[in-house]
Amino acid sequence: MKRLASKFVATAATATLALGLAACSGSGAGGGTDEGTAGGDAESTAPEDITVGVAMPTETSERWIADGDAVKSGLEEAGFSVDLQFANDDIPTQQQQIEQMVTRGADILIVASIDGTALAPQLQAASEQGIPVIAYDRLINDTEFVDFYVTFDNFQVGVEQATSLLKGLGLKDADGNDTDEAGPFNVELFAGSLDDNNAHFFWNGAMETLKPFIDSGKIAVKSGQTDIEQAATLRWSQEAAQTRMENLLTSTYGGGSEQLDGVLSPFDGISRGVITALQNAGFGPSLADGLPVVTGQDAEIASVKLINDGVQFSTIFKDTRKLAAQAVTAAKAFAAGETPEANDTETYDNGVKVVPSYLLDVDVVVKDNIQELLIDSGYWTQDQLDRGQA
Ligand code: BGC
Repeated sequence: MKRLASKFVATAATATLALGLAACSGSGAGGGTDEGTAGGDAESTAPEDITVGVAMPTETSERWIADGDAVKSGLEEAGFSVDLQFANDDIPTQQQQIEQMVTRGADILIVASIDGTALAPQLQAASEQGIPVIAYDRLINDTEFVDFYVTFDNFQVGVEQATSLLKGLGLKDADGNDTDEAGPFNVELFAGSLDDNNAHFFWNGAMETLKPFIDSGKIAVKSGQTDIEQAATLRWSQEAAQTRMENLLTSTYGGGSEQLDGVLSPFDGISRGVITALQNAGFGPSLADGLPVVTGQDAEIASVKLINDGVQFSTIFKDTRKLAAQAVTAAKAFAAGETPEANDTETYDNGVKVVPSYLLDVDVVVKDNIQELLIDSGYWTQDQLDRGQA
């Protein structure tokens, strides 16, 4: 386990990290050592002598397990050693895990944060060791010590969620054009966890799309809860979402006896909590029997089954294999002393700087394209879909 990053930062005249990875193998068993004191050139380093610390938020959602697995295997294929940790959605646990990665000698960090504003001291410590930090999926805020960001187009996720809600209600046609439908449709709105930067992008994309329909009266949010603070779901919790939906039904929909047509949900776990509350109140049980149109995100297998069964209307598919591959590409670039290639250098201001980013596209999943997008691509198997379990 070596401190290649610190060695190079400490000795290189430039600010650029040069781990000297590419040239490397065979320069002595075990590769470089911690000998980098003053001066001297970078010693070539075998990939297996570079450790990448990978901090993931939680194993309670499939997507993060898939992300963790895909990042780990991609890094290992590239020859790196990997220190992968999940933090049970607990901020102090994640802080401690990152501290330990740094102490144990990680050379590069890939971090999917729980609270995007809670990692500044840990990342400063990483920076002092010259460790490049790649923010994974979620931006890390309020620190200069984040070097690159790999993610999906998060604003577009919100646009697509809202657009699919409008299609499900019949306010837009399959091509995305407005229909003659006048409504009004009763809709309630859910947002993600306020400490996750993405939650704001999803919300903003969705609300920009829904606003004209709310303004024209085609959509009514009868609870009046149209601020993200009112709609937020701490830690994206399914249980919290179910409770809020139950409360909304009691306060605004006569406990389920009054019409509710749609629910904007930013995450499949939230969608399932919402659907449970709706079904318990007598809606549905499926879309064909009047269950409101509920959106989602992540193409979690339990929700894909619900979509296939005509219960949940849609989800957003973010191919975690592609995101993991981008993170690995960025790690390889840092390891070679290069700057990873960004395709967005404007959008993601973390409060201290604009973080160069690589954004990936997303797909909307509805019942008709499950086969093509999720089964044919190998993301889920038919058997997993049938069982609704990974
Ligand atoms: C991710 C979403 C996910 C949510 C809850 C967000 O940061 O971008 O894909 O649904 O966290 O885990």
